[in-house]
Amino acid sequence: MSATEGVAEDGTSERAEFLRDALAGLSGNPKTLPGKYLWDETGSDLFDRICAHPDYYPTKREMALLPQVAAEVAALVGPGVSVVEFGSGASRKIRTLLDALKAPAAFLGLDISGAYLEAAIRRLASDYPSVAMMPVVADYSKPVRLPPGAAAPPILGFFPGTSIGNFTPEQAGGFLARARETLGPSHFLVGADPTRDPIRLRRAYGEAGGLMAALHLNLIDRLNRELGSDFDRSAFRHEARLAEDPFRVEAHLVALRAGTYQLGGQTIRFEAGESIRTDTSHKYPPEVFRALATAQGWEPVRLWIDDDSGFSLHLFQAR
Ligand SMILES: C[S@@+](CC[C@H](N)C(=O)[O-])C[C@H]1O[C@@H](n2cnc3c(N)ncnc32)[C@H](O)[C@@H]1O
Repeated sequence: MSATEGVAEDGTSERAEFLRDALAGLSGNPKTLPGKYLWDETGSDLFDRICAHPDYYPTKREMALLPQVAAEVAALVGPGVSVVEFGSGASRKIRTLLDALKAPAAFLGLDISGAYLEAAIRRLASDYPSVAMMPVVADYSKPVRLPPGAAAPPILGFFPGTSIGNFTPEQAGGFLARARETLGPSHFLVGADPTRDPIRLRRAYGEAGGLMAALHLNLIDRLNRELGSDFDRSAFRHEARLAEDPFRVEAHLVALRAGTYQLGGQTIRFEAGESIRTDTSHKYPPEVFRALATAQGWEPVRLWIDDDSGFSLHLFQAR
């Protein structure tokens, strides 16, 4: 389960799993790579800078909503809660929640980007000495078991940002069902973004000062460095595309010219203009997301909606 152990949950090494997924995705038509491989130390650091960029509205809108949400959640869940955050990354938003909760007992930050997570948790630990802090290096696209005894009830799950949108609706349902298993009897606070404004979306996902391009091109660097491939980074450019049914933003690395590359003993060919889809952000209106979660055994408790963007934070309770 732990990336620091270098063994994936099914027993394969992480490198072997990365190679298997990359070969499967790059030999398909259209070409794809799973978005979870965006996240190494460089990817996590770039995302932290994206969050601070004026074009990246989701973080700003959620942070505007969070103080009020945190105060109300604190009153609803009571004292002594253990918080489990999925994809905690730089672990900044959790501070607003920890500040509002009454005597929180523990914080478990769960992330695939191990070294970055561990550094973030060390910073939190020195600022919240009375809260037991634990990094859990794990891939939440698979079943996750928390370390025994690390999180005692009452438990609050936290999945902020727009990460739920990286799943298709079917995958999101699977994630919500697994999260229920992971958390047990608990509350779960989850962010979802319904934005459809093409100008706002193109700025956030296509531009953000060139940082989005750097985040996605980092995938090419990871393929070359970790899997020994010979992709030419300068032969690709990042593009955000809007797509319908269901509405989503897709990130693509578009080949600027035709090229032939080697990966794991196989030849990968690109035509000029052909792309690799590297990530997807599904935009979930509140009622759609609530129905998805309800179908997986999460009872809606409260919903907060940002006036400016419609960004929503849903509080559920395990049925
Ligand atoms: C878009 S960032 C969000 C960070 C933070 N939660 C926020 O809202 O600002 C996604 C985070 O989830 C982590 N992540 C992405 N896919 C993951 C997976 N399959 N398993 C565990 N963590 C994952 C990334 O490393 C990154 O820290």
